[in-house]
This record gives sequence, structure tokens and C-alpha cells, in this order.
Amino acid sequence: MTTPPSQVLARKWRPRTFDDMVGQSSVVQALRHALKSGRLHQAYLLTGTRGVGKTTLARLLAKGLNCESGPTDTPCGTCSACLSIDQGRFADLLEVDAATNTRVEEMRELLENTQYLPVAGRFKVYLIDEVHMLSRSAFNAMLKTLEEPPPHVKFILATTDPQKVPVTVLSRCLQFSLRPLPARQIQERLHFVLEQEGLTFDEHALPLLAEAAQGSVRDALSLLDQALAYGSGEVRRDAVRAMLGTLERNSLLHLLESLAQQNAPQLLAIADEMAEHSLSFDHALQELAVLFHDLALVQAAPMAPTLQESAHDLQNLVTHWDPTTLQLLYQITVQARKDLPYAPDERSGFRMSLLRLLAFQPGSPPSPEPSVTHAPSQIISQPLPLYSAAPPDTPLPPIVQTPIPPAIDDWTALVKRLSHTGLTYELARHAEWLGTQHHQIRLRLPRSHAHLLSFQESLRTDLEAILRCDLKLHIELGESSGESLADQESRAYQISQHKATETLKHDPLVQALSSSLQATLVESSVKPISIPHREE
Ligand SMILES: Nc1ncnc2c1ncn2[C@@H]1O[C@H](COP(=O)(O)OP(=O)(O)OP(=O)(O)O)[C@@H](O)[C@H]1O
Ligand SMILES: [Mg+2]
Ligand SMILES: [Zn+2]
Repeated sequence: MTTPPSQVLARKWRPRTFDDMVGQSSVVQALRHALKSGRLHQAYLLTGTRGVGKTTLARLLAKGLNCESGPTDTPCGTCSACLSIDQGRFADLLEVDAATNTRVEEMRELLENTQYLPVAGRFKVYLIDEVHMLSRSAFNAMLKTLEEPPPHVKFILATTDPQKVPVTVLSRCLQFSLRPLPARQIQERLHFVLEQEGLTFDEHALPLLAEAAQGSVRDALSLLDQALAYGSGEVRRDAVRAMLGTLERNSLLHLLESLAQQNAPQLLAIADEMAEHSLSFDHALQELAVLFHDLALVQAAPMAPTLQESAHDLQNLVTHWDPTTLQLLYQITVQARKDLPYAPDERSGFRMSLLRLLAFQPGSPPSPEPSVTHAPSQIISQPLPLYSAAPPDTPLPPIVQTPIPPAIDDWTALVKRLSHTGLTYELARHAEWLGTQHHQIRLRLPRSHAHLLSFQESLRTDLEAILRCDLKLHIELGESSGESLADQESRAYQISQHKATETLKHDPLVQALSSSLQATLVESSVKPISIPHREE
């Protein structure tokens, strides 16, 4: 397996010159003109959805202002100012993430420093990212300086949500809005990056990635990263299609599991994870409706030929909802899709729909012994023996080279202690432990789950944290011998469902019903009350 490029592509291919920017031509033109003519405003506001070039342009502007041959719209890229801006360590470029530094004191401190002259360049550039997150008092603290900053200071504010920026701030900035990029341009960028990297790719796979990225160059590049991992270093159309499909289906099945367990935090965490993998929420709702439809069909007609292929991974879920509830959940999902354009943004719209699905489920919050499949809620709430001994803010002892503790002998027990949920957990759940040599853990993953390989790095770090030692993971693809946690759980479930069905068949009431009314027992609707613990 060829290793994919080690540095994430989006970071590696951040444009370093204005010429290298994809799209956004009117904004690029205006900024270049300002740099060339030396007519610079004291504060710029760059708006636009995620991954369209806000931070990139802000850095380019900082470079143009501070390049030793500048101010210029063609920063040289080789002087110490250009180099250190590219490496993110230029003393006069102060990047503040307002999402984490919202406190007014921090803002005041920052602003007090504006009076000092730049130390390395011509201008001190303050880049305040996600500026809409600042508190009102922080905004107020900023107003005065924003209006009349010292001549050596430039402000660049960036936000995905300009509606939340007070007009008093807006009116002091020159505002530029960046647009989501057309798929065509994104596709060209992917092509360019792949060529520069000297990687093998199928041209026809690129439109799929470009479409899925929904206007964000960053998302396109991180999907490309995943596609490379998925396709063992190559980008193939069938593999990309499968990857996009499985990523979504897995996330949705996970959503359904969390819904069944009424695990709200996990539900929302999965939604976030989906956003990170830039899955489309509209499409997700559509597919969710399809899943509820399939579940309803599985209940009504377990043997329906249309279902055979997709139904097997629904078996675990089907017993969670009665037919009426499924109808309701389906209805909510379909309606949610119609409402999506009216939501403040797609992510909130999607979140609200999930919470609505949760709210309309009958029954009380889950018992501490959830019934079916793995129980992430249980995993989260179970204190990890390793960590529970120390109060939460005591730093963990540093990772040291130690032999692998014997705990690894029970892989499935180890899996249950992982702190990751979602796809990383799925990777562990479906993997079988083959052995441990020195610091290398060898695992086998069924080919059908190859798409999970892209989560091996987070699995590795998670295992390192639990086992307290440096680790390598070696995962091979191959036939499963039925020993993974997933296999064990599905066996346990089948046994308990079989038991439950048998018990019901012999139940006098059921027998009376079937003889007097010709009623038949719909076996797939039988739900075991709790699965036997696998040690039993
Ligand atoms: N217009 C663009 N041209 C070329 N590459 C781009 C463009 N926009 C984004 N990228 C790529 O995406 C990555 C992230 O872009 P950037 O940090 O500028 O996004 P952003 O708009 O600031 O997003 P966020 O709102 O998430 O901070 C860059 O490193 C670059 O690889
Ligand atoms: Mg940014
Ligand atoms: Zn330079």
C-alpha cells in the first residue's frame, strides 16, 4: 500500500501567491490593486463559507504588505518575511481565533499592543478569524482602534457568519465576500494538486469529489486525502463513489443507533463528524428517509426481494421502533429536508431535525443497559480505570517506552475502552487482533470495511493513550474469522433474538392467537429485552 502524502493536502497546497488562488477573482483583483497602488484600508472584512480562501487571502495580504520587496501584489516568497508568514511564525502577523479568545480582557490586551511598532516587518497585521464569535464587550473594546488604528497597523477580520457582526464594526471595514467555488474550478484544482504530487488518478473521479465538496476547496482536498487512503494511493472513480457512499451510509447507520439509544450527545457528535467529512446534509436527510423506509419494509415484509442487499445491516435496528413510530420518523425526515433551506444554516437545520427525531421517539430515556449492538453511551460513561484515579486536570504522565501491557490480550475489552466513537470506533470494532510484536499491533480488517482504514491514525493515538506507550498499527485486509467485537456482538444478538422468538412461539397467548385467528408471529419484529453478556 502506497502511503498517501504525509502532510494534509489542504495545508500543503495553500496558495502562496495571488496567482495561485482559485476563483474569487474580483476580491483578488481588488486586494492586488490596493497593494499595488498603496491605497490600503485600515480594516478588511473577508466573509464566506468554510474553506473558500478567507485565511489564505488574509495571509497573502499580510505577505504583500510585509514582503521585503513590498508592499507588493507579487510577494517574493523567498525573503524572511514571506517565508515566516508561510510557516505561520511571523512576529507581526497576529492571528487570533475569536472562537477561542472571546474574552474582553484578551481583546484589550491585544489592542494595547497595537501601539508598539512592528518588530519584523512594515505592518503589524491583526488577523481575527471567526470574528462573529467575539463577545459584545470585546467588539466594543475593538471599535475605537478599528476606527483609527496607528498607521503601522492593519486589521483583517474573517467570518463565516457576517450577520452576527455588529454594524458598528461592519461600517469600519472594507468588506469582501468570497463565494463558494463552482465544482468546475474545484475539479481543476484537484487535477493540479494530483499532477504536482505525481499521483495516479482517474480524471472521471474528480467531478465526484468536486461535487461532494460543495464549493469548499478545503473539503475537496480533504476528501481527496481520504480517497487516496481508500484507493491505496490512487484515485479511482469506483473507489471514490464507494467511499462517498459508505462514509455516508456508515454515519447514518450510526445516527440511527444513537437515536435508538436516545444518546443525544453522540447523535450531535456524529452530525459534526459528518460535517467534517463534508457530507451533504440535504443528501443525508434524503438517505435517512430511505433508511426509515427500508426499516419499515423490513418490518412489514422481511423477505421483500428489493431489500435483500441493504437489509442486513438494518436487522439490528429494526426492533427499536414500532411501525407507527417509523412512519413518524420518516415523516419528520422528509419534512426536515423541505425546511432545510429556511434553517439559519444547513448544519443547524440538520441538528434540529435530529433532535426532533429524538424528541418524537416514544419511551423514556435509555436504561443503563441498552439492548442492541454496541453501546457507545455506555463506553463514554464508564470511567476508564486508567484515568479515573487522577482528578481530571492532573496532567497524564508522559508516554514512555514500555512493553505492551498484557491488557492487549483481550482486544475486544480494549476496544470498549476507546475514547473515540464514530468511524474510529467502527474500525476497532470490526478489526480482529492478530498479535503484538514489539510496539506493533497487528490487526485484520474485512475487505468490506476497507474504507475505515483512513481512521487508523486516530485509532493508533487512542490506543497509545490507553496503553501508555508508543505504538504502530499494522492493518491487513482479509477474510474475517468471526472474532471481532462486531462479529461477537452480532452473534450475541442473534442468539438472544432467537431465544426471544422461541419463547414467544411457546407462549400460550401467542399460540391461542395463532390457532383462533390464524395470526402469525412476525419474527423480525421480536425484540430481545437485553442481550446476554458475551461472557455468559
Ligand atoms: N480560493 C482558493 N484557492 C485555492 N485553494 C484554496 C482556496 N480556498 C481554500 N483553499 C484551500 O483550502 C485550504 C483552507 O483554506 P482557508 O484556510 O483559506 O479557508 P477559510 O475560508 O479560511 O475557511 P474557514 O472558514 O474554515 O477558516 C487552503 O489551505 C487551501 O489549500
Ligand atoms: Mg479560516
Ligand atoms: Zn518577500
